[in-house]
Amino acid sequence: MSMATAKPPAVAGTRPDGARPVFNGEKIRADFPILTTLCHGKRLAYLDNAATSQKPRCVIDAVTRYYQSQNANIHRGVYSLSEEATGAYEAGREAARRFLHARDAREIIFVRGTTEAINLVASAYGQRNIAAGDDIILSAMEHHSNIVPWQLLCERTGAHLRVIPMNDRGELCMDAYEKLFGPRTRFVSVVHVSNSLGTVNPVKEIVRIAHSHGVPVMLDGAQAAWHLPINVQELDCDFYAFSGHKTCGPTGIGVLYGKLNFLEKMPPYQGGGDMIASVTFEKTTYADVPHRFEAGTPNIAGVIGLHAALDYLAAVEGPEMLAHERDLLAYAQQRMAEAPGLRIVGTAADKISVISFVLEHVHPHDIGTILDGEGVAVRTGHHCCQPVMDRLAIPATARASLAFYNNQADVDQLVAGLRRVLEVFA
Ligand code: ALA
Repeated sequence: MSMATAKPPAVAGTRPDGARPVFNGEKIRADFPILTTLCHGKRLAYLDNAATSQKPRCVIDAVTRYYQSQNANIHRGVYSLSEEATGAYEAGREAARRFLHARDAREIIFVRGTTEAINLVASAYGQRNIAAGDDIILSAMEHHSNIVPWQLLCERTGAHLRVIPMNDRGELCMDAYEKLFGPRTRFVSVVHVSNSLGTVNPVKEIVRIAHSHGVPVMLDGAQAAWHLPINVQELDCDFYAFSGHKTCGPTGIGVLYGKLNFLEKMPPYQGGGDMIASVTFEKTTYADVPHRFEAGTPNIAGVIGLHAALDYLAAVEGPEMLAHERDLLAYAQQRMAEAPGLRIVGTAADKISVISFVLEHVHPHDIGTILDGEGVAVRTGHHCCQPVMDRLAIPATARASLAFYNNQADVDQLVAGLRRVLEVFA
């Protein structure tokens, strides 16, 4: 009945001596069963990785194994199956700690995803520390999930949002950021990597400036976590969040990192089983961190799948993988420039492999539909970033987002599909 608790996943290309694998794109692709499926009878070119990543076989197997041979509730049973499931769940916490380079596993809270992590902080931290007349700083390139929870808090408390502007390339204006701080600034919450533009924000500097004003910072790492090595101690951020499904793991599981001194002072976010120390009708006391924030039966299978995903990423991540992604981004941008009338939206100096684009006289939804017919999956629309679209005065974009398991053939298929779009709209 032993599970994904300790054994590292089998990763294509691993050297016999156990050293870091040589990055071998084709072998890595073989780890992802879905990449061999067909779409409309054509080879699938999956280029919607910013929406969700595909899952390697080791993740699928870990979840199946859990349900087949280890399924029991955690933190409740004295029987061995339950103890084993508890061990596997808590091993997932340790894996997330390692992945983020956090100091202490108690700083890792399992949530449904980045959205829930931000809601948790806005609710539990915000309600106690943010009041009428206070300011919360966000940026112009936030996903709706890093806007709406703060707006809800503002509605409840009478606080205000302040927004860091961005330039036409999709880079934050850092001079303007510094000027937003005032005596009532209480919190900063900013995206690490933009899902709609690919911009990598200077988050270390963002944190440094906020801390120089005594203001804590949350980073939305949903798009960053599988493209960049994350070290929350080096970043010195106070909260960090990412989603399992965007890091090769299952849906419905994510991680909130919070510095222990913040978490210990925060009230619970939800009430229920497993988050209490004792309950009477007169008074309830709460469990210690992190269990205080994990009410009810959690997504045990999700944590186990996430553990397998993080181990997998740890094995493939490295300079070669990052170089592969950089090279593929450069290749894609160069090839896409061949399409007449195509304009890339989001040209920050520091960006990862998200390529939002518009085509003259063609609606992004039409681009997406025609590309689908060619076996190419891209996302179209506002990408849950309506303020970004408003700032750039466009209604929507088409977006190709690349992952380490994509290759030049995927890009070539996209470019051929774009040619088809141009033929249809000629
Ligand atoms: N936030 C995800 C995206 O950018 C769903 O597509």
